[in-house]
Amino acid sequence: MHILFATSEATPLIKTGGLADVSGALPPALREIGLDCRMLLPGYSSVLDKLGTAVVVARLSGMVGGYDARLLLGTLPGSDTPLYVLDAQRAFIRQGGPYADAEGQDYQDNALRFALLSQTAARLASPDSPLEWRADIVHCNDWQTGLAPAYLHYLGRPAASVMTVHNLAYQGIFPPYSLAQLDLPADSFSISGLEYYGNLSYLKAGLFYADRLTTVSPSYAVEIGQEPLGMGMQGLLTARGADLRGILNGIDSGEWNPSSDLHLPGAYSQRAPAGKKRCKQKLQEEMGLDADAEAPLFGVIARMTHQKGLDLVLAVAEGIIHRGGQLVMLGTGDKAIEQAVRATVAAHPGRAACFIGYDEGLSHRIEAGADSFLMPSRFEPCGLNQMYSLRYGTPPIVHATGGLRDTVEDGVTGFVFEEATPHALWLAVERALDLYADKAAWKKMMLAGMSRDFSWEHSAKSYAALYAEILSGRAA
Ligand code: ADP
Ligand code: GLC
Repeated sequence: MHILFATSEATPLIKTGGLADVSGALPPALREIGLDCRMLLPGYSSVLDKLGTAVVVARLSGMVGGYDARLLLGTLPGSDTPLYVLDAQRAFIRQGGPYADAEGQDYQDNALRFALLSQTAARLASPDSPLEWRADIVHCNDWQTGLAPAYLHYLGRPAASVMTVHNLAYQGIFPPYSLAQLDLPADSFSISGLEYYGNLSYLKAGLFYADRLTTVSPSYAVEIGQEPLGMGMQGLLTARGADLRGILNGIDSGEWNPSSDLHLPGAYSQRAPAGKKRCKQKLQEEMGLDADAEAPLFGVIARMTHQKGLDLVLAVAEGIIHRGGQLVMLGTGDKAIEQAVRATVAAHPGRAACFIGYDEGLSHRIEAGADSFLMPSRFEPCGLNQMYSLRYGTPPIVHATGGLRDTVEDGVTGFVFEEATPHALWLAVERALDLYADKAAWKKMMLAGMSRDFSWEHSAKSYAALYAEILSGRAA
């Protein structure tokens, strides 16, 4: 099976969130079980800088937006996964992030930039591909590649497609007049197409035209069938229910392994957990928290958006500190949330600390150095940090939603609360504080979480089964 995994981010080349972790790990895991999976990624500066050796394998002409584009072929660093990089400087070389500038403003030409990515993915699966290699299935991820199934449809479906929803909150919505630039027929602007409440939605295009839909946990697959988590797509998702599957993400257990993690000041494992103490001590030192081995230290790492429920964390901060605890937070995002986090920290020197920004190493040190991890997300398609926490012996406290519900076992590996309210979170924090006071019981919970297996192999097999099902359907 030849699979083209089309994505807008992938670790270690470019990352804004969990999509990058998944894209950096699932294609190699698919190859591991024998599939010919290759990747397609935009050539942002950071990708070109970190790529290493790559050769130009094609020039793409006649693409949307009149972009001058070429394809480079390299490999995803740290694996042998072939990686096609879409090198189109006018589209992808920017000051700022992959989607927005340094002030957080979306780029004006995102509609065209990601139409180019999607159209390229479709081209690589069509008879006029410039490559000898042809994909049987294009696996699309989120709105950035959502137009690929539409392009494939209008090419006569030379290959099948899978659309994976990592987060339904990001829908790739653009004004209707953008359609004129997309090389798609005017009649695609319809409810049976990419029209969405009078606009275009790239995500909706993917959900409408792809052969199969997946999302990143079984619970989220159910939740998006209705309001509020369907976020306007619930009708279509329900209509396509038979084609929708929830496949839980894995974690990269090489990258996230406390016994070999180079970001940590000390190694530890289930069998030798003592090194975690040193990680905590060093984290307190690094973040300017009081040196206090006994204080229960709560960690948070999140994109600072409404989704992640940081307001709930701030609402219980006082209580945590009052009970002798400490809080460390890492993230960046909405300016108002960043400001509120800074204000809480300023009010509690030595007991609360934050780093507003992106810091890969610190994220590992928080997972290792904290005693417990707070993840009160209002919704969470899968969530990776709670799984990292389990692996790092840092029992997570999570809202019962999406992948959080599917990965944390209440009272056994962590704490699960039902309502996304400060009160419910506080009751869960109190349960954690009480258990923490009982050293043996806490250790038992830590070890239970550390023994859980979230490796990618399992998920990769589920995707492989899905691909096989699609191809046998097409053959029939
Ligand atoms: P989402 O994709 O919604 O942001 P996930 O839990 O799936 O949520 O994945 C988030 C990923 O991004 C994790 O690997 C997390 O450690 C990382 N991350 C988020 N914010 C930061 C940050 N400020 N610095 C470093 N890593 C971060
Ligand atoms: C999204 C979701 C997150 C998920 C990640 C990877 O960003 O918000 O829950 O873990 O994608 O699938």
